[in-house]
Amino acid sequence: MTRRETRQFPDGFDWGTATAAHQIEGGNVNNDWWAFEHTPGPDGAPRTEDPSGDACDSWNRWADDVDLVARGGLTSYRFSIEWSRIEPEPGEWSHAAIDHYRRQCAALLARGIDPVVTFHHFSSPRWIAARGGWTDPATADAFAAFCARAAAELGPFVRRACTINEPNIVALMGHLLGVFPPGHADLDEFTRVTAVFNDAHRKAVAAIRANAPGVPVGLTLSMTDYQALPGGEAARDEMRAMAEDEFFACVAPDDDFFGVQTYSRFRVDANGLVGPEDGVPVLPMGYEYYPASLGNTIRRAWEVTGGNVPLYVTENGIGTDDDAQRTAYVDAALDGVLDCLDEGIDVRGYTYWSLLDNFEWAFGYRPHFGLVAVDRATFARTPKPSFEHYADIVRAGSH
Ligand code: GCO
Repeated sequence: MTRRETRQFPDGFDWGTATAAHQIEGGNVNNDWWAFEHTPGPDGAPRTEDPSGDACDSWNRWADDVDLVARGGLTSYRFSIEWSRIEPEPGEWSHAAIDHYRRQCAALLARGIDPVVTFHHFSSPRWIAARGGWTDPATADAFAAFCARAAAELGPFVRRACTINEPNIVALMGHLLGVFPPGHADLDEFTRVTAVFNDAHRKAVAAIRANAPGVPVGLTLSMTDYQALPGGEAARDEMRAMAEDEFFACVAPDDDFFGVQTYSRFRVDANGLVGPEDGVPVLPMGYEYYPASLGNTIRRAWEVTGGNVPLYVTENGIGTDDDAQRTAYVDAALDGVLDCLDEGIDVRGYTYWSLLDNFEWAFGYRPHFGLVAVDRATFARTPKPSFEHYADIVRAGSH
């Protein structure tokens, strides 16, 4: 068997990992997700397989997380700030909460790690949900005001700002499929929410630029490698337009970057989605093991954004209990990134989702995306072999 040639990433390529406040902090009781987790669905059953509860206790143990990122030799750490902690009521500002995130950013910078801050990662304050959430156009303005003040306070410590994490997932899961807050299934509402999110991104970009001058800002979008089977092209295009292109619409040519967040593919025939291909492993969340999806969606993002908005992979990973499978997935996904670089696409970094096994939304704690296992009772962090493998790639800058 011929040995695979080692392939080198460009100098300065950014190596990161990511988390999100509601998925790791614990005790985020003042947001719509906590309420959703404790409100039975129409069938009387819980909406999520587990409540988020203490999560990884990262509100208290964030320094342990910073130590892990540093141990991996990573150059960036993407995490989100929790709007409901910082602005618990309209206009009421928690200096303690924003200072918590400032201290985390400072600790990262002290270790030579770039803080990449996501200003909204799925969860919204209860007071926003109470007045209609993302169905209310005024939410775009409330979010922009939050971004303005948070950017003014954190700006000197932030090296990259992601406005909204996967607005398309919030719109689809929360307003069309009903499995995220507010649990609605209404196409008209989905369309309205899409427009509000597009407005919110543009206003957040302006707010962050005005208050944190020089900090690169961009949108991070969930992308899937939509593959049309013969005769499925029109159905694929329609499905992808609704799930992605409607959100690409708010990405401006002068956005500082665009974040690609990809896990797998969808196969589509003339009748819609087709299940997993025979022989392709299916992961605990029901989608295929398909690392080639990353390269394919990088190519599409580059094309759709006009080939002049720098790209970062801001999420890619695999929920699996087979850590060797995780390692193989990362290797194969990185091959796709290298291919895209060879094709001249401006991909500036890769972020593995996630640093920690954490709260996977409706799936609770069942899927394990982490490079690091977390004991659900003691919160002890245990790096997996995949953590060491990723650290080796980062150290070598090659794979
Ligand atoms: C998403 C979110 C993350 C998920 C991750 C694994 O893409 O859904 O950004 O919060 O945990 O993608 O599904």
